[in-house]
Amino acid sequence: MMACLQVVTVFLAVSCCICQDSNAFRLRNPILRGPATALRKSIVDFHCMVERDRDDDRNLFYELYKVNDTQSKGMFSTLDNDQPEAKFPVWIKPTHEGYYYCKASVQNRSEVMPTYSSHHYLAVIEPVEGAHVRSDPSPHELFEGTTLRLSCSITKGSHVSYTWFFNGRPVVDGIAQNTMSVHNTTITDSGDYVCFASNAVENTSIYTSNSSTSITIKEIPREVKVSFTVVKERDGHYWAQVVCRSVGGTPPITFALFNNSEGIDEQNTEHLNATFLVPIDLDQHMGELMCQASNGKTPQHSSPMRLEAVRVGGALVMTYERIMDDNFQVIRLQFHCQVERGTLPLYRWFLNNVPLTMRGPSHWVWSQDNSTLLVDLNPTSNRLPVMVVAVVFGCFFFLVTVLTGCCFYGIYKWKHNPDKLSRQNGRSTEMDDMKATCISEGNKDCGENTSVAKEVGADDLEGEYVDEWPEIEEPWN
Ligand SMILES: *[C@@H]1O[C@H](CO)[C@@H](O)[C@H](O)[C@H]1NC(C)=O
Ligand SMILES: *[C@@H]1O[C@H](CO)[C@@H](O)[C@H](O)[C@H]1NC(C)=O
Ligand SMILES: *[C@@H]1O[C@H](CO)[C@@H](O)[C@H](O)[C@H]1NC(C)=O
Ligand SMILES: *[C@@H]1O[C@H](CO)[C@@H](O)[C@H](O)[C@H]1NC(C)=O
Ligand SMILES: *[C@@H]1O[C@H](CO)[C@@H](O)[C@H](O)[C@H]1NC(C)=O
Ligand SMILES: *[C@@H]1O[C@H](CO)[C@@H](O)[C@H](O)[C@H]1NC(C)=O
Ligand SMILES: *[C@@H]1O[C@H](CO)[C@@H](O)[C@H](O)[C@H]1NC(C)=O
Ligand SMILES: *[C@@H]1O[C@H](CO)[C@@H](O)[C@H](O)[C@H]1NC(C)=O
Repeated sequence: MMACLQVVTVFLAVSCCICQDSNAFRLRNPILRGPATALRKSIVDFHCMVERDRDDDRNLFYELYKVNDTQSKGMFSTLDNDQPEAKFPVWIKPTHEGYYYCKASVQNRSEVMPTYSSHHYLAVIEPVEGAHVRSDPSPHELFEGTTLRLSCSITKGSHVSYTWFFNGRPVVDGIAQNTMSVHNTTITDSGDYVCFASNAVENTSIYTSNSSTSITIKEIPREVKVSFTVVKERDGHYWAQVVCRSVGGTPPITFALFNNSEGIDEQNTEHLNATFLVPIDLDQHMGELMCQASNGKTPQHSSPMRLEAVRVGGALVMTYERIMDDNFQVIRLQFHCQVERGTLPLYRWFLNNVPLTMRGPSHWVWSQDNSTLLVDLNPTSNRLPVMVVAVVFGCFFFLVTVLTGCCFYGIYKWKHNPDKLSRQNGRSTEMDDMKATCISEGNKDCGENTSVAKEVGADDLEGEYVDEWPEIEEPWN
């Protein structure tokens, strides 16, 4: 019985001892610490340690490995060192980038299973250098509507991040690492683009390199238009002064003038317009003019325009409307002048043979190329016989149009002053070749020289009218 008990005790003691021993032999996993980034050609330290009980005094053996690399990057034995923590200095090369782990084992006890740390990534930083922005397409000028692509290359550097700036402001859209793109560009995309490349080691050392490029987005000419005026030379020849213009377009622009789709002339200009002189004959169809504007991309065309200079001619009709107030009192007369032939005639109005300014206290001429005259009637004044006479001249002005007629409006006593009107007529020397027929309300013919005249009798005007018109100084010329 005693022996039996002894055997059991010994067995328990042994088994307990084995049990204790096997507990002690189970190593915990080591913890690897180290930098996440390291500068190339520098020395960084990795640290590895197994957490142990205070009374555990066995010597441990540590090794540092890179994943997929059989050769250890360092060894450390607590036997040779006082510190409990292993330290592995590593001289960093570009190939050192990758995952690391450390292995811990009990010194000279190969039967104890070694343990391993989790992986730790080390990025090897090569300071960025030599950033350079390139645009694609490579010319730094491109047309609106196209796509601008910029790429930033570097001569050196790893783990580089890129920031793009446009005219000093960070770009958010269309960036992907070292490239950026702007689709469907407009002229507002012209400016300076900067690529800012940077990398850093452990937030402490920051390396940067930047490069900028200036990009010009060229605008294509828009809304090309052709127009002409007629110029009379002293020798009696007529010229069409043809103006081609576009609304936008980055200069230089080449304007080409076509007659019936046959090129006549071409001009390269820094402006948005060009002027061509084309000899013409009056009253003849001289072809269809068309302008083309181009600054390198698709040429833009104007719509065709008939080149024809027609003299003033035919009848001139003057009409008027009464404008009444709420009490059906005529307060205003609105005269209209209409010539039968001629393109956009110029109208001038006269009162008692005195030219009217655009605006006066009692009248208002819309504009010279508008045939409307407004006359205010003063209800308090005496009712007077009123006669309205309109005269048309043809003349060429430096205006957008071929043909200019002049409508003279006068309120005066026609019978007393017919010569005065003729004198006005004669003063405008350029108008001599224009003829028109006069139509009065009574179909009164005013004669060829007087061109067109129209008179309105006092009885036609139901309002009352001030005979006293203001002095108008500006002479008709
Ligand atoms: C290690 O090698 C294996 C197989 O060769 C591969 O699948 C794995 O991606 C590699 N790991 C690293 C971190 O390179
Ligand atoms: C432990 O092993 C190392 C080699 O791993 C050897 O150099 C050393 O002599 C051994 N120490 C003892 C006490 O066995
Ligand atoms: C490009 O932009 C213009 C105006 O900015 C727009 O009219 C046009 O539809 C755009 N084209 C495309 C393909 O997005
Ligand atoms: C580096 O910066 C990041 C974010 O700014 C921060 O989370 C990290 O702790 C920093 N690392 C060091 C070593 O300072
Ligand atoms: C850009 O690079 C130039 C040298 O190339 C440097 O003088 C300038 O300071 C840099 N700009 C920034 C914002 O880092
Ligand atoms: C043409 O453009 C220039 C400059 O913009 C301007 O001075 C000139 O008046 C224009 N000519 C015509 C005929 O529009
Ligand atoms: C335009 O071409 C036609 C023939 O196609 C010609 O008769 C006419 O004189 C030309 N006009 C000018 C302004 O050159
Ligand atoms: C003259 O101008 C006025 C005001 O703009 C307009 O109502 C009228 O139709 C114009 N008349 C002509 C003949 O252009």
